[in-house]
Amino acid sequence: MTVAELKNACYTYSKDTPFEKAAVNDVNVKFEQGKITGIIGHTGSGKSTLSQLLNGLLKVSSGEVYVNDRNIWAEPKKIKEIRFKVGLVFQYPEYQLFDETIRKDISFGPKNMGLDQKEIDERVIESIRFVGLPEDILDMSPFDISGGQKRRAAIAGIMAMRPEILVLDEPAAGLDPSGKKEIFDRLRKYKDDTDSTLIIISHSMEDMAEFCDNIVVMSDSRVFLSGTVDEVFSHSKELMSVGLTVPQATQILMELKAMGYDVNTAAYTVDSAVSEIMKLFEGGDKGA
Ligand SMILES: Nc1ncnc2c1ncn2[C@@H]1O[C@H](COP(=O)(O)OP(=O)(O)O)[C@@H](O)[C@H]1O
Ligand SMILES: [Mg+2]
Repeated sequence: MTVAELKNACYTYSKDTPFEKAAVNDVNVKFEQGKITGIIGHTGSGKSTLSQLLNGLLKVSSGEVYVNDRNIWAEPKKIKEIRFKVGLVFQYPEYQLFDETIRKDISFGPKNMGLDQKEIDERVIESIRFVGLPEDILDMSPFDISGGQKRRAAIAGIMAMRPEILVLDEPAAGLDPSGKKEIFDRLRKYKDDTDSTLIIISHSMEDMAEFCDNIVVMSDSRVFLSGTVDEVFSHSKELMSVGLTVPQATQILMELKAMGYDVNTAAYTVDSAVSEIMKLFEGGDKGA
């Protein structure tokens, strides 16, 4: 089932000025309920703009955005509801904490939704657990906790609105591999427990290959490729033609294939590449 869709979506910054820039150009893409979709592309390819079109923070210059089959701009007065439904976590959200305490920061979204205090309190506790922070952090100032903790608190603030679709712009930026794994595992648990949909922006092919079900590749303001992870990584050559690196595991298989070994170059995780290579040893002969 499709939960969100962009149809011929365009967004132009500084329209009718010398600085005019089509950041999103005729984009058609569907996001499926319960799935994790990765949006990949170079810096400047339009990923962040696309994410802001999805929750109505930016209004499409032309084309449409649908959330649950509703054109989000059909009734502009109701756009606030869309921002609760589609929760957007900006890149480096830790710089956007502003309140005296973490509790107040996380309460901000649910308060804005007009929920009563009891419900707000429950949601604060629930979301702090989703991101794996201890409850005693709630009464601390955002200035007294670590950068990693701040990032998680900021994500909790969006989760507290219980968005049906959670969009995160580079949630793993600047984290080490174990920090990345932890945040991705927690996001997946949020998705599974709440039956929601995740959209993750990243420029790391490796991370997205491991974590996503579907991938949208952006290049120069347009969708260059989209499909399941398998489908997208089976186009390694095209990805490389627009300067995107494919996962290292895939690169190794492509080298082997070029050397004449019969391997499936669509494998993209370390485990699947290892099993492809093991097959060569089992098979013995050099293939086609
Ligand atoms: N506020 C803005 N004003 C003008 N141009 C912008 C603005 N934000 C982004 N752009 C331009 O739009 C294009 C797409 O940017 P962005 O959506 O941020 O891409 P990405 O997230 O993939 O790096 C880039 O060329 C960028 O310079
Ligand atoms: Mg960006």
